[in-house]
Amino acid sequence: MRQQQRILLIGSTGYLGRTLTKRLQQRNQVVPTHRTEARFDSSQLYDFWTDDAYALIQHYQIDTVVIAANMAYNLVGDFALFQQRVKQLIQGCQQCRIIYISSDGIFGGEKGDYTESDIPTPITPYGRNLRYFEETVQSLCSNYCIIRPSYLYGYSLSQLDPRLTAAQTQLLAGERLTYFTDMLKSPMEVNQVAEVITLLTCSQYVGIVHVAGEAMSIYDFYREAMNSLNIPTTHLYPAQMPVNFLHPRNTSLDISLMKRLTKIEPLPVYVALTQTRGI
Ligand SMILES: NC(=O)c1ccc[n+]([C@@H]2O[C@H](COP(=O)([O-])OP(=O)(O)OC[C@H]3O[C@@H](n4cnc5c(N)ncnc54)[C@H](OP(=O)(O)O)[C@@H]3O)[C@@H](O)[C@H]2O)c1
Repeated sequence: MRQQQRILLIGSTGYLGRTLTKRLQQRNQVVPTHRTEARFDSSQLYDFWTDDAYALIQHYQIDTVVIAANMAYNLVGDFALFQQRVKQLIQGCQQCRIIYISSDGIFGGEKGDYTESDIPTPITPYGRNLRYFEETVQSLCSNYCIIRPSYLYGYSLSQLDPRLTAAQTQLLAGERLTYFTDMLKSPMEVNQVAEVITLLTCSQYVGIVHVAGEAMSIYDFYREAMNSLNIPTTHLYPAQMPVNFLHPRNTSLDISLMKRLTKIEPLPVYVALTQTRGI
């Protein structure tokens, strides 16, 4: 592999993708892609459903493909077509190192503190799609790193994430917000996540890595975040998940492998939000 890699970054306009593009550009030649509107110079048009990434890989002599686009999330079409498109994308990248950004949503949430060797048993269509993507990468490629983040939050190129932005707006408008105390996640600040992904992209590590923070309930997450942003939390209420709620209860992640590989310690929510405002 060349000293300076040529990286195709699919999803450079996204919340994670834009700060990841900036970071990877510091040491590598990055070819960013967009589906709707370009955000970076030399960005290439690419749509997972209609385009062939292989042509871009050949043309730019790509070494590494980073897939940070959110194809698995809003799947309205049929699963068979999704499978076909995933296969075509991964086959086209087969000769490259592949970094696939997956999610904690791959787990069913029965136990929490999931390690990389736990077998995913997804309970949502999103989780099922993620599992198919991961399995395809693992079966077709020899040089890959699958990265599973949990909630991403904070300022990505000065823009606060959509979840905290919405909560902030609603609380300031005097609306009542309720979050579960028994739904657990492992949130990590987006610039720290991008730093870890950059290290893993440029490493030779092959396998799955959980890239996340310490476990906390989503109620605690929002309360801490709103306090850091100086938003009054009098209208923020705790609640329990309803019994038949079809959403994973505890998808907290074991992050010891990430710490061992990268030496990065996730920042607490209030520190991360205070330090990164304006980045
Ligand atoms: N945000 C979180 O809390 C979180 C948590 C766990 C895992 N993740 C994972 O991290 C990744 C990035 O998340 P994000 O929050 O940054 O997502 P996002 O802000 O919604 O960005 C989505 C990106 O995907 C691109 N995209 C969507 N459909 C596409 C298609 N059909 N073809 C090509 N590109 C397409 C979008 O391009 P355009 O803007 O050009 O349309 C955009 O660049 C996702 O894979 C997600 O599953 C996110």
